[in-house]
Amino acid sequence: MLPTEVVAIDGPSGAGKSTVARQLAQRLGFGFLDTGAMYRAITWHFLQEGCAPAEVAAEPDQGHARMQRSLQQARLELVGGRVVLNGRDVTSHLRTREVESQVSAVSALSFVRASMRDLQRLVAAAGPVVAEGRDMGSVVFPQAKWKVYLDAAPSERARRRSQDFARQGRVVSESDVLDEILVRDRLDSTRSDAPLRQAPDALYVDSTGLTTEVVVARLLDYVRSAGAAGSAAGGRAAGNVRTQEAP
Ligand code: DC
Repeated sequence: MLPTEVVAIDGPSGAGKSTVARQLAQRLGFGFLDTGAMYRAITWHFLQEGCAPAEVAAEPDQGHARMQRSLQQARLELVGGRVVLNGRDVTSHLRTREVESQVSAVSALSFVRASMRDLQRLVAAAGPVVAEGRDMGSVVFPQAKWKVYLDAAPSERARRRSQDFARQGRVVSESDVLDEILVRDRLDSTRSDAPLRQAPDALYVDSTGLTTEVVVARLLDYVRSAGAAGSAAGGRAAGNVRTQEAP
């Protein structure tokens, strides 16, 4: 049986999923599962091993055998908000441009997805989680009690992302970030395995113009009211509601 005590949050890059999911998990006393960080960690590992997709594209099997071997040797742990790969804390390496330029290609590989899916289900089997990514509600946790699709206008997503970069001391213009976001969204939503897609029973939330606090409060209401209704159907009843408010 697949885990059900899951708040599955999906959506495109920069919609604010990580911040919202982390705070929601804290408020609910649930674990927090950042699945994008897992794909980023594997991408970093492939880069370290010289077998990232762009580096092996010319090999006869496009480097798949090497990547599969390398994946088997990657022991990924999520420890208190840190990402640890083969005993090394790699958290600070996950948002580099090298990782960002390769992560969509890595996350399109079915053998990588299968391995991450197993790990994600294992984590959720250990206790309730807020899990965020691209395929949480549609593929990994189809029986999740709560599903959310968190969206925002591309320009706002680019603005938030470039603010994140500025906090990390990186200067990237909003228009460059917007271009990168649009490319990643296209790759993430057109791949054949588990493309970014709203699950039919997910609550749609457009966070454009909303503060994190407002979005978290809305999701708390949703989880509590769906929980009070006593079943997954309670969550589904929320349906495809589009919510938008002035800041
Ligand atoms: O959410 P993020 O930007 O950290 O995600 C990094 C990449 O990983 C993104 O390009 C999409 C991919 N990803 C995915 O394919 N499936 C997930 N469940 C989470 C992320």
